[in-house]
Amino acid sequence: MNSITLNVERAGVEFLPEIKAKAKAACELLHRGGGAGSDFLGWLRLPSETTADFLEDIKQTARLLQSECEIVVVIGIGGSYLGARAVIDALSGAFHTIMSNRRYPQIIYAGHNIGEDYLFELQELLKEHKFGIISISKSGTTTEPALAFRLLRRQLEAQQGKEAARRLTVAITDKSRGALKTLADRKGYKSYVIEDNIGGRFSVLSPVGLLPIATAGFDVDRLIEGARQMEAATDSSVDFEQNMAMQYAATRNILYTKGKKIEVLANFNPKLHYISEWWKQLYGESEGKEGRGIFPAALDFTTDLHSMGQYMQEGERIMFETVISVANPNRQLIVPTDDDDLDGLNFIADQRIDYINKMAELGTMIAHVDGGVPNIKISLPRLDELSLGQLLYFFEKACGISGYMLGVNPFDQPGVEAYKKNMFALLNKPGYEAGHKAMMERI
Ligand code: PA5
Repeated sequence: MNSITLNVERAGVEFLPEIKAKAKAACELLHRGGGAGSDFLGWLRLPSETTADFLEDIKQTARLLQSECEIVVVIGIGGSYLGARAVIDALSGAFHTIMSNRRYPQIIYAGHNIGEDYLFELQELLKEHKFGIISISKSGTTTEPALAFRLLRRQLEAQQGKEAARRLTVAITDKSRGALKTLADRKGYKSYVIEDNIGGRFSVLSPVGLLPIATAGFDVDRLIEGARQMEAATDSSVDFEQNMAMQYAATRNILYTKGKKIEVLANFNPKLHYISEWWKQLYGESEGKEGRGIFPAALDFTTDLHSMGQYMQEGERIMFETVISVANPNRQLIVPTDDDDLDGLNFIADQRIDYINKMAELGTMIAHVDGGVPNIKISLPRLDELSLGQLLYFFEKACGISGYMLGVNPFDQPGVEAYKKNMFALLNKPGYEAGHKAMMERI
């Protein structure tokens, strides 16, 4: 297959039989559903189980939103937001937000913060436009998206009328519980189900990611096709030597035991920024528990080489680097010759910009490896739906394997409740009266 590839030659690891066996056993455990969190393995077979009829339904809803909206606001947080944004940003033109000749609605995000200015300014912007809403919350009770949805659905009804608001609002939520489900039923919104066995951070290939991505004008058939290819290529029946998910998980596991506690996911293409954000959630929430886990960090190069480059080169030697490299850009641009050459760049005249970028990438890799930062490289043939589908599924599969190798449940997130509990106590939410009293005494 025209596939993404993994190169761990510069990671300084040796795959001894014991580590290969451990990775294989973790993968098999995942596939048999015998490990911790096995109620949340719906994502494992999602690509191969996604039917053409289901994708057609998604595309039909996307077409309705495309035909009637200038802007579609995607409301969600964490796993109900990052995957869609990662793919849409990776595939969109860098300046699509200010281009006026768009074929598809502008996708804007809300419900991923509690910024009063952000929400006010969003409402101001929407006053000028015909908009629709995709509201995503598995639990249907998360504060940030619920707050944004309360504001925006009222605005949509007031601005475009109740019938248009019903037609142009889509809810993606649990099949039977939660406030969003109740609201969707009562208001008659089109809705999609997030299956019980798919956790938020593993949901990008479900309607959670697919509907916003299709609405933005991208090919969800190809995305799922890429993921399907990777599902087959990383199956537990595929040997360690051919299985890049096992190899990535094993490499991380070896580096962690050697004291490399931070993994920096780096890219040399600004469109990949939100892929890193999505990846940070996937690995951070899956592995950071019980006092263990690699801290997932992300940098955008060469931009961040001028800020964090010093630390990467000479700071504490506790990190390794995973670079996502895109082999072929989708456009071509050549450095022009300049008669005066005052900037001294004629030595690279007639070269493609990407050639210079690739030399920056190679130079950085050699410098960092020399400086004690092991390197893993993931190469994408190009930035398109097929490669991204492969990449997303690859990271998900490797995450499950890696979590089991680490000895944690990669599918829960008990730690994220702590801030919510305190916030509700501080806000004196009904049911949190005792907590409120305790909080007031503490502060
Ligand atoms: O991965 C997770 O489970 C979380 O990041 C959730 O996706 C996030 O908290 C949003 O939850 P919900 O979809 O229930 O609103």
